[in-house]
Formats: sequence, C-alpha cells, structure tokens
Amino acid sequence: MFKKILAAVLTATMVLSLTACGGAKKGGDLVGVAMPTKDLQRWVQDGDNMKQKLEEAGYSVDLQYAANDIAQQVSQIENMISNGCKVLVVASINGESLGTVMSQAEEAGIKVIAYDRLIMNSSAVSYYATFDNYMVGQKQGEYIKSALDLDNAGDKTYNIEFVTGDPGDNNVNFFFGGAMDVLQPYIDAGTLVCPSGQMTKDEVATPDWDTAKAQARFETILSTYYADGTQLDAVLASNDSTALGVANALESNYEGKYPVLTGQDCDIASVKNMIDGKQSMSIFKDTRTLAGKVVGMVDAIMQGKEPEINDTETYDNGDHVVPSYLCEPVFADINNYKELLIDSGYYKEEDLK
Ligand code: BGC
Repeated sequence: MFKKILAAVLTATMVLSLTACGGAKKGGDLVGVAMPTKDLQRWVQDGDNMKQKLEEAGYSVDLQYAANDIAQQVSQIENMISNGCKVLVVASINGESLGTVMSQAEEAGIKVIAYDRLIMNSSAVSYYATFDNYMVGQKQGEYIKSALDLDNAGDKTYNIEFVTGDPGDNNVNFFFGGAMDVLQPYIDAGTLVCPSGQMTKDEVATPDWDTAKAQARFETILSTYYADGTQLDAVLASNDSTALGVANALESNYEGKYPVLTGQDCDIASVKNMIDGKQSMSIFKDTRTLAGKVVGMVDAIMQGKEPEINDTETYDNGDHVVPSYLCEPVFADINNYKELLIDSGYYKEEDLK
C-alpha cells in the first residue's frame, strides 16, 4: 500500500515537474521559421534570437533562409508544413507571393505569424509582429527636419533625395509614408527641393533592398543633378542597406558638404559609418525584443491562448486587418549609439572597430 502511495506521489511529482519544464510539456512541437536572406545582418540576428528563445521554451525549430529567392522560400515553407510544424513564423521576401502556400498552411490548421513584414491577401495570417513601421519613417523624417532646422529655414532651401526599398515589401509604404507625412509640408512650402524630381514610391524604390542597386541609382542622380557643384543637404534612405549604397556613391561622386543621411537597423557597417560621419542616424530595432514577443505569441498559440497584441487597426493585408504587436523603434546617432548598442549588450565595442 505504502509503495503504491509512494509510486503515485512520485508519478504526480514527475508529471508536475515535467509540466513545469517547457520541453516536456510542449513535447518539442515543431515551429517553422522562414527568413528572407542571410545577406542582411538583421535577419541573421532575428533568426538566431528566435531559434534560441524557442528552443529554450522547449520547441523544435526549423529555421530556413531563402537567399531572397521567392520560389525557395515557398518550397521551404511547403517542407515545414509537410514536416508537421504547428506554427509558422514568416518574414516574407515578397508579401504578395505566398498566397498558395499560405492556403496550404491554413488547410493543415497551422497558425501563421507574419514576422516584421506583412503577408498580403491571405486569410491564413493569424498575427503580425513587427516594429511600428510608420513610426520608423516618422522618426527618419523628424531627424531630417531637426538636423536642417526646417522650421526656422526662412527663405533658405535645402536639396533632398529619396531612397526606399523593395516595392513588394509592404513596410515600404509605412516607412516612406511616415517620413513623407513629416517632410511633405516642407516640400509644399518650397523649403525642401528634390533636384532629381524622383519622389514617387516607384521612382525611389530599391529592388531587393540591394546595396549595389541603391548605389547605382544614386550614382546616376549625383552625376546628373549634382555634378555642377549643387549642394545635397539630405537623403532619406529607408534602411541601412540602401544608406550604405548612398554612402558608397557619395564617396566617389560627390565633393560638397556631406548630406544628412538616414537609415534603419543599426547594421554594423552603418554604425561604423555613423562613427565615421558618413551616415547621420539609424533606427534601432532591437531584434531581441521582437524575437521575444514572437516566442510569447507562439507559446500562447500552442497553449490555445490569445497572444498579446496592441494594434487591431493598422495592418490590413487586403483580406483582413491582422491583429498585431508593434514594438517601438528608437533612433540612434553618434550621441546615443553607445548606450543603445553597447551598454545594452547588442554589440561589443570591438564589433564596431
Ligand atoms: C525591414 C527592415 C529591413 C528591410 C530590408 C524591412 O522589411 O523592416 O528592417 O532593413 O526590410 O531587409
């Protein structure tokens, strides 16, 4: 009898302790994590952070990068579905191109979290986790506004050019829209002038967010509109990979006073440029925060609970407004980068040398 009671107590204790230990409770359920490319530092950090945190929480993780190749990303997601993943976390290469594979996920009862970039025109997307993309653009615009002191410009005019990212990335609309909402009044008032005249989303796009493509376009702008010594005062670049292209173009094609140049992500190359005075600011989107939020979402979904969200209005993917969690981006420049990036442990001082 005593033995039986002891066995029962032991079993109960084991069940309890197994339940407390994530791994056993969740039985290593598979989470598929599809990232766009390893070319950009941020996605490598996003993927690594998520894999580590999901594994710590007891899940098995299939993390894949698709070299910015849409077909490859589709086939990676198909494999995740056939391997029995329970939740998919997807940072899409092109938000418009995943419709079919998303329907397959939906049919298999898999919940999909769009990571950083919204997946468009699909009913399969359950949640969206990102940084507040509109606020990213606003902060870039505000930075230019205050660096040029546009409110006190009087009759002075300033020359500006615009560089955004891949037109298939829904975030571009928010980055560019947020920045233009700040800058447009100064364009309308004639304080900001764009010598190239290239100001529509299509004209300022950079396919694949590619540094070389941004550089090539900017070299043409410089040689066509600035070769006569025209001063360039500001460049709105939506992120660091495009800002790097602009900085490279300026290096060998421009001799005037260096313009205010924005960016986003705090990639190492761009932070180094910031320290060297070749990029004015970047937006810091701590990938540890976003990854942590997504792991919380995955965990809630796995337990049949509602994940934490803080926005139910902004992100309409053409099928429905996707419940979202928006993290807050902050700007980084030469004055605060140490506190933001080094003191927080995001980078080590030697990474930036
Ligand atoms: C992300 C940016 C990134 C860009 C290029 C965007 O969707 O939000 O952080 O710089 O893609 O990869």
